Amino acid sequence: MASHGEGSDAPVDPMVSQFEKHPISSILIIIAMQTEALPVVNKFQLVENPHSPFPEGVPWVHYHGTYKDITMNLVWPGKDSTLGVDSVGTVSASLVTYASILALRPDLIINAGTAGGFKARGAGIGDVFLISHVAFHDRRIPIPVFDQYGVGSRQTFSTPNLLKALNLKAGKLSTGDSLDMTPKDEESIAANDATVKDMEGAAVAYVADLLKVPAIFVKAVTDIVDGEKPTAEEFLQNLAAVTAALDEAVARIIDFIGGKCLSEL
Ligand code: ADE
Repeated sequence: MASHGEGSDAPVDPMVSQFEKHPISSILIIIAMQTEALPVVNKFQLVENPHSPFPEGVPWVHYHGTYKDITMNLVWPGKDSTLGVDSVGTVSASLVTYASILALRPDLIINAGTAGGFKARGAGIGDVFLISHVAFHDRRIPIPVFDQYGVGSRQTFSTPNLLKALNLKAGKLSTGDSLDMTPKDEESIAANDATVKDMEGAAVAYVADLLKVPAIFVKAVTDIVDGEKPTAEEFLQNLAAVTAALDEAVARIIDFIGGKCLSEL
């Protein structure tokens, strides 16, 4: 992802630099699971928009409100209309990110959620990571250049002041559409140099990049992928407690953002 003035020798776009001098006025938080989303909704006293900006019949839910002069939008992809479970994964994540950006025109996207962590790379249960890079690990296309397209590696919007102020861990994220991990996935995750794996991040980043909206990624570790316990069991066991740590981090991030410009993050 273009890092908006960070780490690049490219000339600064005057429109972008002008924009970055204004305090952030609108945030879009994208959270895939209801268990993760509702505490944020409650904390910021967001309410469900009765006039949803989304097409009739889709399960996507838009909550909104105001906090510290920021228009807060939280979008949860909702429950699958047939099966009644959270619409996790890259397909729903891409669609809600696209539709939400068009409808809500946010200054900044925050994708928050849980993730599996690699203890060999320093992740522990309950750790909250601010993600520096995202990539996919299950889009294998062994043809020159298509291989890189499949991996879709991107730098996230750089927020060095936020990272420092909140004392979060920094790491790379690898995204795929499975909770488990095949040996091939494991190889790709290692090639992506990732400390955490999730099911949405790189998809949100792809769409944010397409539509030129800066995006940051906050991921809390519910399960240790290179540990002894079965992933699904460990994930469900830790979901509630780790969600509390995730939501506290999201609240601190939003507090930090209040009154600041993008270039101050
Ligand atoms: N979310 C939480 N744990 C995960 C894992 N192990 N893989 C993908 N997404 C996750």
